Amino acid sequence: MTKLVVVDRQGSEHEIDVANGISVMEAIRDNGFDELLALCGGCCSCATCHVYIDPVSADNIPAISDDENDLLDSSDNRNANSRLSCQVQISDALAGARVTIAPED
Ligand code: FES
Repeated sequence: MTKLVVVDRQGSEHEIDVANGISVMEAIRDNGFDELLALCGGCCSCATCHVYIDPVSADNIPAISDDENDLLDSSDNRNANSRLSCQVQISDALAGARVTIAPED
């Protein structure tokens, strides 16, 4: 299990414990956050699972793929910490990471 801090769109922080091996999108969705639409179900084709992962943790996770990068380019709310949460797997490298749900485009 890995602990994440999820920040919702109202700015409230929620600590969740999630199983390793699932995606950050699944972890957020399975913990009842309905703000994260994840419309394509994790196929890297919708960008409605956009989150910001805090810079310290982001250094520990795999680099962004070309497909993910292209999709994020379609967001007006992209920043240096942007990721598509369906493309990042939960692992010990994310322990304590702060994951903020990005504003809706
Ligand atoms: S759920 Fe659609 S891109 Fe992540």
